[in-house]
Amino acid sequence: MQTRPLGATGRLVSAVGLGTWQLGADWGAVDDADALRVLGASADAGVTLFDTADVYGDGRSEQTIGRFLAERGDDITVATKMGRRLAQEPANYTPENFRIWTERSRQNLGVETLDLVQLHCPPSAVIADAATYDALDELVAEGVIAAYGVSVETCAQALAAIARPNVTNVQIILNPFRLKPLDEVLPAAADAGVAILARVPLASGLLSGRYTAATIFAADDHRAFNRHGEAFDRGETFSGVDFETGIAAAAELASVLPDGVSLPAATLAWIAALPGVSSVIPGARTPAQARSNADAAALLDGGLDLDAFDVFVREVYDRTLRTDIHPHW
Ligand SMILES: NC(=O)c1ccc[n+]([C@@H]2O[C@H](COP(=O)([O-])OP(=O)(O)OC[C@H]3O[C@@H](n4cnc5c(N)ncnc54)[C@H](OP(=O)(O)O)[C@@H]3O)[C@@H](O)[C@H]2O)c1
Repeated sequence: MQTRPLGATGRLVSAVGLGTWQLGADWGAVDDADALRVLGASADAGVTLFDTADVYGDGRSEQTIGRFLAERGDDITVATKMGRRLAQEPANYTPENFRIWTERSRQNLGVETLDLVQLHCPPSAVIADAATYDALDELVAEGVIAAYGVSVETCAQALAAIARPNVTNVQIILNPFRLKPLDEVLPAAADAGVAILARVPLASGLLSGRYTAATIFAADDHRAFNRHGEAFDRGETFSGVDFETGIAAAAELASVLPDGVSLPAATLAWIAALPGVSSVIPGARTPAQARSNADAAALLDGGLDLDAFDVFVREVYDRTLRTDIHPHW
């Protein structure tokens, strides 16, 4: 597994990490034993970065990772998030709340110092406010957190966060259905030495190529209840792409792949190969998914013509998705 620097932290993280929203909630039920098996399968396959948040399952994702760290977590970097336990109002992003939230995450994860804490898609005013970073710098100085970053919805928010001197990483949606970050965000992050974590890389599974117009998701899965942004930003579900348009675009992308290379594997390798990306963090619901996502990193060293796939990805995006997607985020 290739590794890359996590910003200026001195840490290296695997080019393919693991997203663990699935181990908390909003994707239908996953039991504790299965959740631990997903973490184990990823780590066994060389993954050293787990992304989580204090709100995933109201702490369950963090607690499961905490159990895993206690058993065998030496080499794992945990990137958690804070900010969504209260309403999304700038007034809630106070130094006092940062302390309450980070204390809870330390307990959930069972660690003294949190490796990386990302603001969890805060309002733009919070990203623009120098006081936000003063409070985070204070937590670093005290050893509560080792580093901080910002998870964002839009490219404008990403650029604002990248401009701050002590931001370690920006987490943003980036996949073949979401190419806008390639325009300015990736070059700016590379120039500033800010790590990019690419989230929702499989467009919530649309880029698995497995779904059809008849696919039904459980009622407690956001792919059933947030297609139009009913519960949170529409872009977090299928990357904001209309379901049937996405199925057709995924089928086109799959059609150019050589035998033996799956669409999710090609997608993850293509993202991980983009200059400026530190790690791509697919979510996995099963150990098999976790393993095959980690194994996709091997395509960085051969087995797929990534340059030719890149040309095709851009062509499909421009023809079928750009008009709907590019202006929004
Ligand atoms: N605001 C934020 O900061 C934010 C928002 C969203 C996500 N995230 C983070 O980013 C991570 C990744 O995004 P995501 O989980 O939303 O979306 P994603 O990674 O694009 O899609 C995950 C889904 O893809 C399918 N999948 C995964 N691996 C597969 C494989 N090998 N073969 C076939 N299908 C596969 C599974 O669908 P099935 O369930 O149908 O099997 C899985 O639930 C999250 O887990 C979370 O850590 C952060």
